[in-house]
This record gives sequence, structure tokens and C-alpha cells, in this order.
Amino acid sequence: MASIDSTSLVSQPKPLNILLVASEAVPFAKTGGLADVAGTLPLELTRLGHRVSLIMLGYSMIDASTHGLTPWGQLSVPTATGPKEAIVECGVLPDATLPAGRQAQIFAVRHDPYFARKGLYQESGADYPDNLERFAFFCRAVVQWLVEFQNKAKWVPDVIHAHDWQTALCLAYLKILYVDYTQHHAVGTLFTIHNLGYQGLFPASDYPKTGLPPSLFVPSGLEFYGSCNILKSGLIYADLLSTVSETYSREIQTPEFGFGLDGLIRERHDRLVGVVNGIDTNVWNPATDTHLPAHYCATEVSGKRACKSALQHEMKLPVKDVPLLAVVSRLSVQKGLDLVAAIVPELMRLNVQLVLLGAGDVSAEDQWRSLHGRYPHQLGLRIGFDEGLAHRIEAGADLFVMPSRYEPCGLNQLYSLRYGTVPIVRRTGGLADTVVPYTPTTVQERRATGFMFGEASADALLNAVLLALQVYKDRTEWSRLIQTAMQTDVSWARSTRAYEAVYRQTLRSVRGDS
Ligand code: ADP
Ligand code: GLC
Repeated sequence: MASIDSTSLVSQPKPLNILLVASEAVPFAKTGGLADVAGTLPLELTRLGHRVSLIMLGYSMIDASTHGLTPWGQLSVPTATGPKEAIVECGVLPDATLPAGRQAQIFAVRHDPYFARKGLYQESGADYPDNLERFAFFCRAVVQWLVEFQNKAKWVPDVIHAHDWQTALCLAYLKILYVDYTQHHAVGTLFTIHNLGYQGLFPASDYPKTGLPPSLFVPSGLEFYGSCNILKSGLIYADLLSTVSETYSREIQTPEFGFGLDGLIRERHDRLVGVVNGIDTNVWNPATDTHLPAHYCATEVSGKRACKSALQHEMKLPVKDVPLLAVVSRLSVQKGLDLVAAIVPELMRLNVQLVLLGAGDVSAEDQWRSLHGRYPHQLGLRIGFDEGLAHRIEAGADLFVMPSRYEPCGLNQLYSLRYGTVPIVRRTGGLADTVVPYTPTTVQERRATGFMFGEASADALLNAVLLALQVYKDRTEWSRLIQTAMQTDVSWARSTRAYEAVYRQTLRSVRGDS
């Protein structure tokens, strides 16, 4: 695995022009953690002095006037079926701590036939059938915009940082169709895998819609067991690869976590780094969070009790002093919530409460509705996506459960640490890297921040919960655990420096310098 040379930061402080490309970003559009990362990393990089822009899709839910977006220009985007018009809008990423003129820029690519829809990727559980066309169009627009942008705004990125399969075609376009631009400007590229389980798989007959030459539809290109795999264009054509935790960067090189791509990733392992996500500590701050009914901090946690009572009330649970467990999650197989569902009867016998906020697989939603019907006084349920409630749950719960089968990084355990809500996690990916499990040694060293189990089974989860509930009864021990959790550094500070080093490494790989 490539190591990050952090000494290069001291000797090469030149600010970089960085372009991030993502399919969702807070506060514009969000379905999961990618949005938190894509919306926050530009701000953090800007704080370090870099000139950062983010370009994303102009979904119709992104209201131009609410977000202060103004027209930037019009693009004629070449596609497999002829040129199509895109409108690019531009504004700044909101952040009160950055002075005017020093903010990160946001660009949104509008093309209503593709992007003016209810969802980002799907509706009622079904992917949009034209997703390949939608994201190919977006990627082609990004690269076309770059070429026109250099003339109009005299700005060329040093580094392009693309995220997940929806933006992966940018890398192929840059290296194959826009090679003159890429070589002339010696642009470095980084592709970040946030979740290898989502690869952008389409029938082979759709491949021509990418606009790439037929010669690339081979196993060493975008072909994947007879299908077209869009993620591969990022894995193959980016100068460097990263993923969102060190453990996950190792896991995806194994058949168990590789989703069929572990061989390709092993081939490029010397180009792969793991950089764990941080969180926006301004937005996720229990001392100031505007979604909360009361505030608290590591040295004064009494406000957390008020948040708990308010949450019990909001979720229609009896307001009483019993352990309150919580889940906020996409309901997908990845998240392992079937293991939680399996132990619900046992949990209910233990006199605890559980709240779950989630949306996703229709069968999982139904299963939770039916459990709620059985235990309405102990199980609080909200099916749907609710940002404010997610904050109130992080603040009001005692324990946060994440039994993921795999978890590239995970953000909720980081929010939980910050909010003194002790995480119970499975030992995988970023969960293993960010939670210090409760053991005799870590307790003695005052490093424990949560509970961890290994096997993806209901029994293993239950044992971890039972241990947590036993510790919960010891108020002194519990307060100590909360203190240590809340003092954990979950900010972006270290990881932003790590990305900075990776960006410089991409430049060395294309320019032979920094
Ligand atoms: P993933 O990206 O795999 O879904 P993460 O833990 O990285 O997992 O990030 C999930 C993000 O989405 C967190 O910010 C979490 O609070 C948020 N989230 C997930 N489900 C919901 C929901 N139903 N309502 C509100 N926020 C949610
Ligand atoms: C993905 C992963 C999650 C990660 C997030 C942001 O959605 O499933 O683990 O935290 O991306 O990187």
C-alpha cells in the first residue's frame, strides 16, 4: 500500500487548485455519508489555503435562490446521441468561518430531463433505468466544462478528486477523450471509493452510451463478466486511488469484501491509500446544534438528559430512565440491521428502549413496521429521511448500534462519539479504525470509547449489547466512557492533511514534481 509522505507538506506549501466531483453534497442533496464528505472536505481544504471547487449534479431539489446559485454559463455536452445542452450554475459553499472571497465554490450542472426528478438515483426502491446516460452526461459535462472554464475563468485544477461510480467516467474521459487537456495541464487525478458495493453495473448493450471507444469494452477495461462496470473507469484511469479507512483499503483487496474487483484493486494496491473521514464539527456540535432542545459538552453533560427525555417524547415512548439504544441508517443489507431485528424480542425483555430512523429496502421497512406494531411502548420508529431527527437521536440516545456487515468508514459512530452516545459496532472497515473497544486493557488505559463484536451474528451483537448494558449500570464507569468518547478527535484535521499529501503525490506521478 502506498504510504503518505507527510514531510512533503512542510517543504511544499504551494496552495493547490482542487476540483472535487461528487453526485451529492451537503447542504444541497444527500442520501448518505458521501454527501457529508463531499460537502465538508472542500471547506476543510479551503481552510488550509487551497482554492477548491466542487461540481455536482443540479437536481431540481437544489433551489438556486435558497442556495444563492447564479448562472455561470451554458455548455454543449457531446453525448453518444449528439450534443445536449447543460446549464451550469455557481455559488459558494456556506461556511461562516471563511471570509468572503476565500470560500469554496460550488458548481451545479443542470439538465432537467435527467436531473429534475424526485430522487437522486432511484424512486420507490427502483433505480432510474437511464442512470448510465444520466451520470455519463454529468461526467462528460464536467470535463467539457473544465475545457471551457480554463478560457473563461483562467482556472485549471492541479488535481481532480472524483468520488464513487457516479463520477468515475470523468477519469476515463480525461485520459481517453480529453488527453490533450490532461497532458497539457498535467492534471493529477484521485478516485475515492466510498462503497465498493455500488459499482454502476449496466447491460453490455448500454456500453455505447458512455461514448468511449468499443476497444475499451474488454476485461482490462470497463467490461465485467459480460456487463458494463462504470466504477472500473475510476479504478483503472485515476492516477491514485483512495478509500475511506485504512482497514477498508485492506479489506477490498480480499474476495470477501472485493465484490469481484479485489483482483483489479490488488493490481493497483501501490496506488491505494486509506484516509478515514472526519466530521463537520461545527454542524455536529452538541454545544451549539440548532436541532437540539438542549445543549451540552464534555465537561457539562446534563443537557444530554433533557435531549433524551425530549427524544423519548418525540418518538412516543414513555419518558423514563432506561437505557435508550438507537439506529440511524439506510436500510440495506450492508448495515446488518437484520441482526438488530433478530434480537429485538430479547432487548424488549431487558427493559430497554430502541429508536430507529431509517429508509431503504422495502422488505426491511416492513419488518421494522411490524416490530413496531408488536412493541409500540419500547420501540420508537420513523421510516424516512429526517436530518433534524438524526441529530436529536445522536444527542438523546445512550447507545448507538452499527452492526454493519461491511462499513467503508461510517459517520454515525463519529457523530455518536462526539455526542457522548456510546457506539456498539462490528469490527469492520472504518468502525474498527475509529472506535476503541471496551476491554480490560483499554479501560485501564482510559482509551475505551465503545463496544465491538466480530462475528456478524445476532448472538455476537447481543453479547456486545449485554456488556454495554452491564457497564451502563455503573454510573461512574459510564460517565468515564462518555468523557473519553466525547474527547476523541473526530475532526477532519488529520485527514485533510492526508488528502493534501495524496494530492501532491498525484502531481508527482504526472509532473514528476509537486
Ligand atoms: P452510508 O453513507 O453508508 O449511508 P454513513 O454512516 O457514512 O453511511 O453516513 C450516513 C449519513 O446519512 C449520516 O450523516 C446519517 O446521519 C445520515 N442518515 C442515514 N439515514 C438517515 C435517515 N433516515 N435520516 C436522516 N439521516 C440519515
Ligand atoms: C459510503 C459508506 C460509508 C462512508 C460513506 C462516506 O456510503 O457506506 O461507510 O462513511 O460512504 O465516505
